[in-house]
Amino acid sequence: MTVKPYKSSEGSKKTQVAGMFNNIAPKYDFLNHFLSLGIDKIWRKRAINLLKDIPNPLILDVATGTGDLAIEANKRLNCKVVGVDISTEMLKVADEKLVKRELTEVISVQEGDSENLPFENDTFDAVIVAFGVRNFENLNKGLTDMGRVLKPGGKMVVLEFSKPAYFPFKQLYLFYFLYILPWLGGLISKDKAAYTYLPESVLNFPDGKTFDSELVKAGLSPIKRYKQTMGIATIYFSEKPKQ
Ligand SMILES: C[S@@+](CC[C@H](N)C(=O)[O-])C[C@H]1O[C@@H](n2cnc3c(N)ncnc32)[C@H](O)[C@@H]1O
Repeated sequence: MTVKPYKSSEGSKKTQVAGMFNNIAPKYDFLNHFLSLGIDKIWRKRAINLLKDIPNPLILDVATGTGDLAIEANKRLNCKVVGVDISTEMLKVADEKLVKRELTEVISVQEGDSENLPFENDTFDAVIVAFGVRNFENLNKGLTDMGRVLKPGGKMVVLEFSKPAYFPFKQLYLFYFLYILPWLGGLISKDKAAYTYLPESVLNFPDGKTFDSELVKAGLSPIKRYKQTMGIATIYFSEKPKQ
């Protein structure tokens, strides 16, 4: 089932997603850290640490948004990172951050669609994506194109929300996620639909083993899954086969 942000509006999921992130871009970073109580920063660090054995990697951060994962990758791996996103306003925030932190020599961001990436085959040592895949219009097309630009043997790290499975954490979390978060997010961002779309898109998105089979369908080989914070999020670590 395709979940779109603005149900009563026309437009493809991609157009609506880009519009939604354009709307919330100025408040995105604040809300991200506030609504997750800062836990998202720990998840990003763990995701990047999976790549620490690759010498001097060139990394592509897909759906880079305001650039936090790209910045984390550069900080931990001391490497060059290219970020792409379909939301011009999110990229504007990323650009400002990179200038302020004097990172423009090592991190660049540009407009780009995960389903038609503007790069040659076999370019990157690793492709990373945080909280992006759930928003793709066509998941298989996105994952397949991310695999295309990876070098054979290159690694893919996907960090995405998942669904906690066990009582009572599951019930407590769902209450927060379905009722408190949309209310708070809507109040602060002034875009209630964006923070209603968040839980709806998570609850309708494949996670765990099912997401691993999406990676396989896209030609990737899953290596390991790492559940984060009782399953609120999962890090999927995979590889492009060597031949
Ligand atoms: C929840 S934000 C995540 C941003 C960032 N990765 C982070 O960790 O904070 C999702 C981002 O995915 C981007 N996005 C959605 N579909 C995309 C696509 N097909 N290609 C590139 N970016 C996309 C959105 O514009 C948005 O900036």
